[in-house]
Amino acid sequence: MTEQSPALDNLLTESRTFPPSEDFASRANATADWYAKGDEDRDAFWAEQAHRLHWDTEWSQVVDWSDAPFAKWFVGGKLNVAYNCVDRHVEAGHGDQVAIHWVGEPGDTRDLTYADLKREVSKAANALLSLGVSANDRVAIQLQMVPEAIVAMLACARIGALHSVVFGGFSPSALRQRVDDAEAKVVITSDGQYRRGKAAPMKANVDEALEGAESVEKVLVVRRTGDDLDAEVPWTEGRDVWWHELVDGQSEEHTPEAFDSEHPLYILYTSGTTGKPKGILHTSGGYLTQAAYTHNAVFDHKPGEDVYWCTADIGWVTGHSYIVYGPLANRATQVVYEGTPNTPHEGRHWEIVQKYKVSIYYTAPTLIRTFMKWGADIPAKYDLSSLRVLGSVGEPINPEAWMWYRENIGAERCPIVDTWWQTETGAIMISPLPGVTSTKPGSAQRPLPGISAKVVDDKGDEVGKGGGGYLVLDKPWPAMLRGIWGDNERYRDTYWSRFADQGYYFAGDGAKYDADGDVWLLGRVDDVMNISGHRISTTEVESALVSHPTVAEAAVVGATDPTTGQGIVAFVILRGGAEGGGDEAIQELRNHVAKEIGPIAKPRQIMVVPELPKTRSGKIMRRLLRDVAENREVGDVTTLADSSVMDLISSGLKTGGDE
Ligand code: WT7
Repeated sequence: MTEQSPALDNLLTESRTFPPSEDFASRANATADWYAKGDEDRDAFWAEQAHRLHWDTEWSQVVDWSDAPFAKWFVGGKLNVAYNCVDRHVEAGHGDQVAIHWVGEPGDTRDLTYADLKREVSKAANALLSLGVSANDRVAIQLQMVPEAIVAMLACARIGALHSVVFGGFSPSALRQRVDDAEAKVVITSDGQYRRGKAAPMKANVDEALEGAESVEKVLVVRRTGDDLDAEVPWTEGRDVWWHELVDGQSEEHTPEAFDSEHPLYILYTSGTTGKPKGILHTSGGYLTQAAYTHNAVFDHKPGEDVYWCTADIGWVTGHSYIVYGPLANRATQVVYEGTPNTPHEGRHWEIVQKYKVSIYYTAPTLIRTFMKWGADIPAKYDLSSLRVLGSVGEPINPEAWMWYRENIGAERCPIVDTWWQTETGAIMISPLPGVTSTKPGSAQRPLPGISAKVVDDKGDEVGKGGGGYLVLDKPWPAMLRGIWGDNERYRDTYWSRFADQGYYFAGDGAKYDADGDVWLLGRVDDVMNISGHRISTTEVESALVSHPTVAEAAVVGATDPTTGQGIVAFVILRGGAEGGGDEAIQELRNHVAKEIGPIAKPRQIMVVPELPKTRSGKIMRRLLRDVAENREVGDVTTLADSSVMDLISSGLKTGGDE
């Protein structure tokens, strides 16, 4: 299953633990007794957490699981999510507190206080209403990390419209697929974006995507790159509207309406094991409760004191839960950075930490490994003494990167929280608590208070200490997905069928308990790859390859990669007569995948092969291809329909890749 997992190897030898300092523990938000409270009376525990929020109408029941796997949380309760993230802090006298220290890639900056945010969100809500958007309508957002992205999301939430944020790096066809699936009425984007010091077009790609898109009535365009963009911004009269022309003139008054706790909040598409992305649906009360609770407990966030920075992009769930909803519900002051970590130099993040005195920093293992590559002398040039909590998310963090993070960024002082969760879980599920847990390099350790997870074997029985198997969630949780947009059957099949008898949610990950019963994540056990913490399905990339006229068949595997965690390696059979296998043809195929899905899906390597290894029933044996991709001796081939295929592949390999 996960024979080559680096985490598994390390698990055998890893014995270091780091208890919290007494000082940290004495001031920590979460305490050890929360675990017992969560176990003894789960409903009471979550009711207490929900009271962190403002409810216009109190709920009558904490959770209704009678229609499993479709949960209802805080049944009958009513609240407005945007009011909770913005207005109530202003009303409590914190209007002058900075909500967002925004840092643009070229070096321009903007500070928005909670009062500013309230004005901007109200105006944007009025603007959306003026475009005919009403509650339950869908708004697609493809924007880089500019304040308007956050404002747009909150404006949707405020009027009860669902946002569907599409990562800025996704191709026009990926955007189109998502716009069509959700039948988005409005699309919000920008003229262009700064990337590595250059202005690149954005609106032009959106226009390409929207050609003939029937649901879209209006496109709202944020002006960001302006005159720096060489090209003209394409414009469709009657459909396209400048953000500044429409939003700036709106009234600053907007009265938020209270929506049902189960009112849908957003759709976010993620890769599954098939080619078609799944629109993960999240709702309001339970989601916001768990996002706010975890942001408070896991990061030990103190409103008005801490400066928080999550380096994710709002195109991913981490940006939704830990840039927008969790931190703002908790009245955080946070840094939002527009650009890449090495523009204009490799110390950019540390320069920002120093300038804003960032105290909580949350990032991904792939970036930590990149920082390692750049060298410890770079962070050493900056004053990082403001930092007090460090977080990690997206993939298993190897102990080596964990130790580097601890020593070179955290000065051996800051607890590290390795947070396991998914787009589907909506919020953190398994993680140390920084003032409670003695942390271990490479382990996410323990389900949070109020959360239940288990490692089970094939039959669904929990494995003992030291045992490995499948990670399942055996009890409903407030921020859980409420379904896949428009496809209830797929929702049941994907998550609830593997352990249907037990009623467990299967997360797709392998995991193991150590001798203390702590959880170590071992990576995906399905056909989903994890590239730099981003989920990409093997089928998606295979479909993109096969859509090229020269390709007859393709098989894709994720191979261990020192920086990105996994890298995409593709094996292709060319069509009879197709000229191929040359460097140029292979580059062309790699670019084709980038164009179809987006640059993150560009294969690291493509190998042209005469055959693919298949079982008698025709299933591709990816395990063997992974052996080839990782330069290992090929494993057991006895179940292959034709056992000579692997020899053929190994002898006739034509490789191409990394520029
Ligand atoms: C998958 C979910 C959660 C936001 C970012 C990714 C992997 C995530 C960890 C971690 C080991 C992790 C899992 C999971 N993953 N965090 N701390 N340790 N693995 O969200 O795109 O929905 O991907 O990412 O494989 O299933 P996502």
